[in-house]
Amino acid sequence: MADQSGARRTDRKESEGPAAVADQFRGGWATTDLKLPVAPGAAYAAKRRAAVSERFPGERIVIPSGGLKVRSNDFDYAFRPHSAFVHLTAEQGTQAVPDSVLVLEPTGSGHSVTLFTRPRSPRGDGPNGTEFYRDRRHGEFWIGRRRTLSETADALGIEVAARDDLEQALGRSVPTRVLRGEDGRVDALVPPIPQADAELVAFLSELRLVKDEWEIARLREAVDCTVAGFTDVVSGLQEATRHARGERWIEGTFNRRARLGGHGLGFDTIAAAGPHACVLHWMRNDGPVRNGDLLLLDAGVELDSFYTGDVTRTLPVGGHFTEVQRRVHDLVFAAQSAGIAALRPGAPYGAFHDAAMRVIAEGLDAWGLRPYGRTASTPAADLYRRYTLCGSGHMLGLDCHDCAGARDEAYSAAVLQPGHVLTVEPGLYFQPDDLTVPAELRGIGVRIEDDFVITSSGAECLSSGLPRSAEEVEAWMASVR
Ligand code: GLY
Ligand code: MN
Repeated sequence: MADQSGARRTDRKESEGPAAVADQFRGGWATTDLKLPVAPGAAYAAKRRAAVSERFPGERIVIPSGGLKVRSNDFDYAFRPHSAFVHLTAEQGTQAVPDSVLVLEPTGSGHSVTLFTRPRSPRGDGPNGTEFYRDRRHGEFWIGRRRTLSETADALGIEVAARDDLEQALGRSVPTRVLRGEDGRVDALVPPIPQADAELVAFLSELRLVKDEWEIARLREAVDCTVAGFTDVVSGLQEATRHARGERWIEGTFNRRARLGGHGLGFDTIAAAGPHACVLHWMRNDGPVRNGDLLLLDAGVELDSFYTGDVTRTLPVGGHFTEVQRRVHDLVFAAQSAGIAALRPGAPYGAFHDAAMRVIAEGLDAWGLRPYGRTASTPAADLYRRYTLCGSGHMLGLDCHDCAGARDEAYSAAVLQPGHVLTVEPGLYFQPDDLTVPAELRGIGVRIEDDFVITSSGAECLSSGLPRSAEEVEAWMASVR
């Protein structure tokens, strides 16, 4: 929709127009206060803030939500707050407000907590009084109603102040750590202390490693919805073969389920048919889907809570694996099963990858494939990297690749603990132009990925609603169709 005057504007505000126009918008509006329930995760977020307070006594901690990113000209991408901000506020879905900033201010005994955010667009003669109908980026009649400051305070159980008051609040000279790169105004206000800021990033990531019961319940929901998306795809798989860009049909089918379920996607859907399956993050999704080929679907629903699933299945488009496709799938299945069997509290984080790679190595050896380009120092788990390409899993949570800022000693070099949630996703990828493998293998890519929570005695598969083995996959596809 263009400015009424027809002029192009770069400030993303409708022109003020003659005074008579402003008069039209003055008064005559009903009171529409919201009575919002307290966000279900608020009490858990309060505990996490207490952990931050305990770790950084006497220091101010500043965690911005991040802001809007321009997609093109005067349209933005959908807003998705930073995961650390979500973790510490329990902010939900479309309620999240760009440019919000959580500040923990040191007090005598701990910290006071204030969320600086945009209020509901005011309607009146004061500052921002015309925002509600003129401001295309933030105005209520353009992008929808935000909560008032007191509604936000009630919903999140946090003291709330106007974002416009942030400069003043950060003015007092106190040692300050900032989650940087999310809010240019905050970054400019507080001089960086690289080591201190890096410690904050690591701490916030590590705080998310062990999920609490509320998070595990959200991850269960996210994975359940992800499983439903896979079923939708299988139901519509033959329709995909009738479109030149069938991968887009697959993507759209899964994404509809994601949007219905919550915020959207944890990452862009990977709908990789035929040799595209050999590209780990094939998100172009512009190819055909043909009977006789495999479809590698790697996708995750992100709920309003912003927790995401991350599941992969490699499906025979026509419903039946060929002999060679099944051979590859069986080996990846065996590798994944070995990886899953290695999940238990106290096991080194890397054990599941090592177990999966051992099975892959034995299987490829049995097929007569030899490690290519190995050297004496190649670690055992990397011997066949040309065909496995990447690690066999990662922590899962608010980010698909969760807790990425954690130190090695807390993550990849640590042991599994109850409450860790992670994926196990070995794969084999024989590039279509790889002359080191028999021609029949070229262009076949298979990955099987499931999501697990580590329990006190082992691991629970959250995505067990989907079949894993080739036989089960074929039977499932036949039943869903
Ligand atoms: N599902 C995408 C990834 O784990 O990299
Ligand atoms: Mn993954």
